[in-house]
Amino acid sequence: MSDAPVHLIIGATGAAGSATTRRLTSAGATVAIAGRDEEALQALAEETGATVHPVDARDISAVGSVVEAVVGQHGRLDGVANLAGSVLLKPAHLTTPEEFHDTIATNLTSAFAVVRAAAPAMRSAGGAIVLASSAAAQIGIPNHEAIAAAKAGIIGLVRSAAATYGAKGVRVNAVAPGLVDAKMTARLVGNEAQAEASRKMHVLGRLGTGEDIAAAVAFLLDPANDWITAQVLGVDGGLGQVRTRG
Ligand SMILES: NC(=O)c1ccc[n+]([C@@H]2O[C@H](COP(=O)([O-])OP(=O)(O)OC[C@H]3O[C@@H](n4cnc5c(N)ncnc54)[C@H](OP(=O)(O)O)[C@@H]3O)[C@@H](O)[C@H]2O)c1
Repeated sequence: MSDAPVHLIIGATGAAGSATTRRLTSAGATVAIAGRDEEALQALAEETGATVHPVDARDISAVGSVVEAVVGQHGRLDGVANLAGSVLLKPAHLTTPEEFHDTIATNLTSAFAVVRAAAPAMRSAGGAIVLASSAAAQIGIPNHEAIAAAKAGIIGLVRSAAATYGAKGVRVNAVAPGLVDAKMTARLVGNEAQAEASRKMHVLGRLGTGEDIAAAVAFLLDPANDWITAQVLGVDGGLGQVRTRG
């Protein structure tokens, strides 16, 4: 077995997940990729040399089995990023029970599943867990009730898990993206009027890319930054903290 760090990326076929996979494999890491689209996972694996683990990230036991398989295969686990997620833009009164439960499962249950499985797997040698919150968990944006609730739950999860596992060298942090050009936002970003209105909400004047998120995820996974835990890093062009003019 090589000395290269071993990372697991869940939600690897999305904009942030695929950019993170490319970034880590280019830097020489061994990367396991997990997600629900087997064909897209295989294509990314062929491109990057990553190993493939099909999983529904909402399934707590299945995520546990993936973590077990990666540790079994490589003998170690240095970092896990959960970049699976969804977005639901609806006011609470128009959100169906099914939509609410699926939003919580896809975003918050998947994050909990990662912490539950990965933290004990990292206890002997330490490691880093990175979850995905959202700028929408920090400021009130209309029609984000379900997704804001799920992404705010991740902030609590990060803080508590960082406290529980920190003494064993396991760091737990999150990125909190603004609006990123991704599969889940394709309709919004594809509508020029809506995209322009969204751009104006970001003081840095542009929407995010998968690479923007990947750079921050790689930073938080990097053991060079091993005095950072319990943080929620806005990668959001300012959206979470700054009100724009006009
Ligand atoms: N894009 C944004 O504007 C934005 C804003 C705030 C927060 N975030 C968060 O940032 C993270 C990365 O998202 P992104 O920007 O890269 O969006 P994306 O391109 O839509 O990627 C999301 C990924 O999650 C995967 N996924 C969804 N449900 C899943 C499930 N049940 N099991 C396994 N995988 C599942 C999707 O799989 P498929 O490939 O099969 O669709 C996709 O690969 C997510 O947690 C997202 O909620 C994104």
